[in-house]
Amino acid sequence: MRAITYESFGSVDVLNARDIPIPVAGPGEVLVRVVASSVTTADWRLRAAAFPGSMWLAGRLMFGIFRPRKPVLGGDFSGVVEAVGNGVTAFAVGDRVFGFSGTGAHAEYLTIKADGAIAPAPDTIELASAAALPFGALSALVFLRDYARVKPGTRVLIIGATGGVGAYAVQIARILGAEVTAVGSASNLELATSLGANRVIDYRVSDPVGDAARYDVIFDTVGAVGFRQARAALASGGLFVPLNFRLGDVVVGLVSRVLGNKRMLTSVSGDNGPDLRVLAEWVDAGKLRPVIDRRYPMDKIADAYLLVEGRHRKGSVLLEIAPEDAGDRKS
Ligand SMILES: NC(=O)c1ccc[n+]([C@@H]2O[C@H](COP(=O)([O-])OP(=O)(O)OC[C@H]3O[C@@H](n4cnc5c(N)ncnc54)[C@H](OP(=O)(O)O)[C@@H]3O)[C@@H](O)[C@H]2O)c1
Repeated sequence: MRAITYESFGSVDVLNARDIPIPVAGPGEVLVRVVASSVTTADWRLRAAAFPGSMWLAGRLMFGIFRPRKPVLGGDFSGVVEAVGNGVTAFAVGDRVFGFSGTGAHAEYLTIKADGAIAPAPDTIELASAAALPFGALSALVFLRDYARVKPGTRVLIIGATGGVGAYAVQIARILGAEVTAVGSASNLELATSLGANRVIDYRVSDPVGDAARYDVIFDTVGAVGFRQARAALASGGLFVPLNFRLGDVVVGLVSRVLGNKRMLTSVSGDNGPDLRVLAEWVDAGKLRPVIDRRYPMDKIADAYLLVEGRHRKGSVLLEIAPEDAGDRKS
């Protein structure tokens, strides 16, 4: 099968399209014929070993000290179940699925645990588009619903509102009933409004945390503000949730939660099947939509990564692997 592999950490030059063997579904696993993947900030960080701040050591230990442990990049996928391993009852051959595999998704086939982050794809959108959702929408869901406990009426400020996580955070905050202020550059504010933002701020013109508004939750997907700045814009009892943080922020966050009236929470996202099902239900109910900046074929993988690491993409960057009916055509 064709796969995007890398043998050392580095620039886009380390990416290679190669033919490698199709993986085999072991017990409890599903083999997926991949229709699309997407290139995310997680994929870029794995490729470049660009683990932020406090995550650098953990990242190298997990993903490879001298060279990548897993040769195929790609976390997000959508596709069709090609085979199931022993003991798998939740999925059957031919099922349309989407999910997050961590690595291995920039390839024509991948295997994933059936009880991992895989679920039936939404019925109402083309299968390829479903690969735009997992990384950004799962992160937004877990941070807003579980960590920030956003409820109807919660006043949420989202910094980086049209990026890979932000484009889904705006939609999900609105689904949860929040009143959303979105921060982005001028050319993206219309998109933020179309995603449901009640109010928009151009960060190149106004200080997003400097205006008179007070927020219950500030969700910073960019690393644009620190806790000190965020505190000034938080209402009493408010919570600052940065996606990027240093070790010192973890300590400050812990102290703030014990002693402070305004708190900071640092954490990492989780990925699981039940949350993917929630996303699929929202898509099918017309509440959530994939936001796709550009689509690339596999041989343009370097261009896809360059768009992602430019840090100004609008939503997701899709990698088209094979048409949904490619399997039918082979048989
Ligand atoms: N902790 C976790 O578990 C977790 C989970 C997911 C992601 N992350 C991290 O979260 C970060 C965000 O991921 P992502 O995929 O959303 O990144 P991304 O797609 O690169 O986000 C780019 C966004 O940042 C905005 N931006 C760029 N410079 C800005 C500035 N100076 N001020 C305000 N906004 C600015 C852009 O807005 P404009 O284009 O309008 O300028 C764009 O909306 C990444 O670093 C990722 O590693 C962490």
